Amino acid sequence: MKIRPLKTHNKKEVSRLLSQAKTFNEQEVQVALGVVDEALRRPEKGDYCAFCALNSNGSFTGYICFGPIPMTEGCYDLYWIVVDKACSRRGIGGKLLEFMEDFVIKKGARRIYVDTSSTPPYEPARALYEKHGYRVVGLLEHFYRKGDHKVIFMKEVRTGA
Ligand SMILES: CC(C)(COP(=O)(O)OP(=O)(O)OC[C@H]1O[C@@H](n2cnc3c(N)ncnc32)[C@H](O)[C@@H]1OP(=O)(O)O)[C@@H](O)C(=O)NCCC(=O)NCCS
Repeated sequence: MKIRPLKTHNKKEVSRLLSQAKTFNEQEVQVALGVVDEALRRPEKGDYCAFCALNSNGSFTGYICFGPIPMTEGCYDLYWIVVDKACSRRGIGGKLLEFMEDFVIKKGARRIYVDTSSTPPYEPARALYEKHGYRVVGLLEHFYRKGDHKVIFMKEVRTGA
């Protein structure tokens, strides 16, 4: 498996994975695509970073998008991570997370935050974060809609950070 920066011609694959995921509604898909556009437009700014995973025959199997949180010292947000359903549970999500962690540590990151939903479709995502050492640091009840809470995970990527 290879991880490299996302390119403009990958947008259709990103779109396919977001629609296939079933976790995102149409509005969320549009926001996710907007974030990808921003990452592709001005990669040198580093506000949004997008990388994708390709398997050994070059097929697109997933992507991750993250960036520094403005007005913080060394805090990053994981905005989106999606893996092709056909390749789930093969460690690709974990590899993308580890790649992001190595990348942001080199930029001086202390902490990585990730918001997710409390609902059943997000169970794989919550389990992935927990497996990789992210812990729940906040719960905003009924945030997305009634009965759908925002769960905030965080990982300290530097000791004592
Ligand atoms: C969450 C997601 C990225 C995980 O990708 P993945 O490549 O399957 O993840 P991995 O193979 O690295 O799995 C690592 C761990 O995550 C957890 N996990 C992954 N899929 C799971 C599932 N369907 N059910 C329960 N736990 C799951 C497990 O702890 C797993 O470890 P294990 O296989 O040793 O038990 C993928 O399921 C996905 O794209 N989901 C839809 C989009 C989404 O919800 N994104 C996050 C919100 S932005």
